[in-house]
Amino acid sequence: MSESVLEFKNVSFSYQNDKNQRIAMIEGLNLQIHDGEFVSIIGPSGSGKSTIFRLITGLEQPGEGGIFLNGKQTDNRLGIVGYMPQQDLLMPWRTIMENAVLPLEIKGVKNAAAEAQVRVLLKDFGLNGVENKLPGDLSGGMKQRVSFLRTVLSGSNILLLDEPFSALDAITRLSMQEWLLEQWEKRQKTILFITHDVDEALFLSDRIFVLQQHPISTLQVVEVPLERPRSVRDLSRAEVVQLKEHLIDQLRSRMKA
Ligand SMILES: Nc1ncnc2c1ncn2[C@@H]1O[C@H](COP(=O)(O)OP(=O)(O)OP(=O)(O)O)[C@@H](O)[C@H]1O
Ligand SMILES: [Mg+2]
Repeated sequence: MSESVLEFKNVSFSYQNDKNQRIAMIEGLNLQIHDGEFVSIIGPSGSGKSTIFRLITGLEQPGEGGIFLNGKQTDNRLGIVGYMPQQDLLMPWRTIMENAVLPLEIKGVKNAAAEAQVRVLLKDFGLNGVENKLPGDLSGGMKQRVSFLRTVLSGSNILLLDEPFSALDAITRLSMQEWLLEQWEKRQKTILFITHDVDEALFLSDRIFVLQQHPISTLQVVEVPLERPRSVRDLSRAEVVQLKEHLIDQLRSRMKA
């Protein structure tokens, strides 16, 4: 088994709601992600998926337990992992180049050097020739590629992607999934990917974590029985269809609970 790049040890998290009640969202959660894995997290809306990401990035701190990145417990995790949040955070008044250089700008990289780093990636990201456009001029898929490019520029070996394709139409979404797998293989990153879409999770992942109960204390872990490279046709294999039905049943029973 390869080493773990991300680990939760006995992590708990609660928050205060607007009626001043303390709500336990995560209780004694353990999880381990291995180097180079592609792991998806699925669960109904409000089940705590984005909160798990905010804990990993350090935007929230656990009440108890430890979060280990690359084997080290780091309390100040801001900026250590590449994070693509659920909402598109491109600044509408900045050009694509100005948006893309942002993580480097924050790190203090000089403008010319930052732009040079971005230029190397633009072609791979299907973004050649758009660097002087504004986000509003780009299609949804292109905007997501700019956000992803920015996440890669963080330089981290761990990338957290929060529902990156949920606003895209089915065809664009499929080509973005295929493209993401190519990038994942090429760049040898570890990816954690939140989605509502069971097909998407099955197509992309080595393992799927299902958020089942509230508060979250265990995750159901499903291994995807598919070789790589994959094609969408693989999703119609009997064992995958069966797994899909099982996952949907689980999510439904969670919603009724
Ligand atoms: N610090 C906090 N203060 C107040 N409420 C919080 C806090 N953290 C989480 N919550 C609440 O917990 C719930 C779960 O949040 P979270 O965003 O993690 O869910 P999610 O699984 O990502 O949902 P979705 O699929 O809709 O994005 C939300 O209802 C949110 O309002
Ligand atoms: Mg969310």
